[in-house]
Amino acid sequence: MISVPTVRKDFPIFTNQPDLVYLDSAATSLKPQCVIDAVTAFYTTHTSNVHRGDYAIAAENDALYDGTRKTVASFINCDPREVIFTHNATASLNQAAHGLKPLLKEGDVILTTKAEHASNLLPWFSLQKEIGVKVEYAELDSQGRLTEENFLKALHEGVKVVALAGVTNVTGAVQPIRAVTKAAHAAGAYVVCDGAQSVPHMPVDVRDLGVDFLAFSAHKMCGPGGTGVLYGRRELLERMDPVFFGGDMNARFSSDGTIILKEPPVRFEAGTPAIEGVIGMRAAIEYLQKIGMENIHAYEKELRAYFLAQMKKLDNIQIYNPDNEYGPVAFNAKGVFSQDAAGYLASRNIAVRSGNHCAKILHEVIGTDSTIRASLYFYNTKEEIDRCVAACSEISLENAIGIFF
Ligand code: ALA
Repeated sequence: MISVPTVRKDFPIFTNQPDLVYLDSAATSLKPQCVIDAVTAFYTTHTSNVHRGDYAIAAENDALYDGTRKTVASFINCDPREVIFTHNATASLNQAAHGLKPLLKEGDVILTTKAEHASNLLPWFSLQKEIGVKVEYAELDSQGRLTEENFLKALHEGVKVVALAGVTNVTGAVQPIRAVTKAAHAAGAYVVCDGAQSVPHMPVDVRDLGVDFLAFSAHKMCGPGGTGVLYGRRELLERMDPVFFGGDMNARFSSDGTIILKEPPVRFEAGTPAIEGVIGMRAAIEYLQKIGMENIHAYEKELRAYFLAQMKKLDNIQIYNPDNEYGPVAFNAKGVFSQDAAGYLASRNIAVRSGNHCAKILHEVIGTDSTIRASLYFYNTKEEIDRCVAACSEISLENAIGIFF
């Protein structure tokens, strides 16, 4: 069980912005004091680079930085050597896609869906252009959900990669990753899972799911910006190319252009990493683990059900994912442009995101290219939901237009 009043005391923003209703955690989460302290301590008491210094605080940071691989490994159940630190989920997905190039050839099919975020489509589109792979889409229902049956219909022997979000970022469809992975592996395909919207909100176990890659960002799970993770199955990482070349990732190189790479995961971490980001992510994961991912999942589900039930009663609101049990609520005020309606909510100090949310072909599935997305996290309360619902009930063409901020 989560004690929300207790948890909220961990987040200084609630003291500094006492009137704010923050319903935009799918874009980025708020930060607890322990994360802020971990990042501040790096700047104020133990700044150094990692893997490069021979002095005490450098050794301390090496231990903190590399030790965080163990923290991540315990969080998602993998080997620490399978944890690559990146700059965000987007960088992780690009590394997975471009890293797989040596294992792909012209005509190979990348199977995905139209509900994916740009980060899990555009890297594959770029491979389409570069090496001639072909992107295909499994059919979704009108709320962006993939059924096992539709996945199996779309799977064929030409499919070499399945690229799929664990939870989609607009309609919050929880995709059947375990079943998809089992079928994909039987067909000889790798599975790249975008975990940006699932890892922060529910227990995720890569061994149990069986995925080959999992990408996520620290900033969506109480951690700092500029830091992400790519989990990759060890035997695949050994066969993959890095996207970035530079310091630390090479063992040696010579004037004829020969490069001898280090072993994974360091091979994939060229240049100075976001050290404070990784250290802050460690604090975030430890914080989430203390609360318990099962507890977070259960509370968010309950809160979302409460939210949805209230929203369904409003005649002026159209909901695009009324049957989904999880994730954001995607809606519009009937006849009102989503950004104008979001502006009205902002005037009531309610923070939501509007637009296409980087899922720019989802409109082919849900029938609109612009929605308001209200996304929750474990620090939100029923009182905040009530305020949001009351404000939504007031949105009309007359009061929404003309609010600029
Ligand atoms: N990927 C983030 C979102 O869905 C930014 O809002």
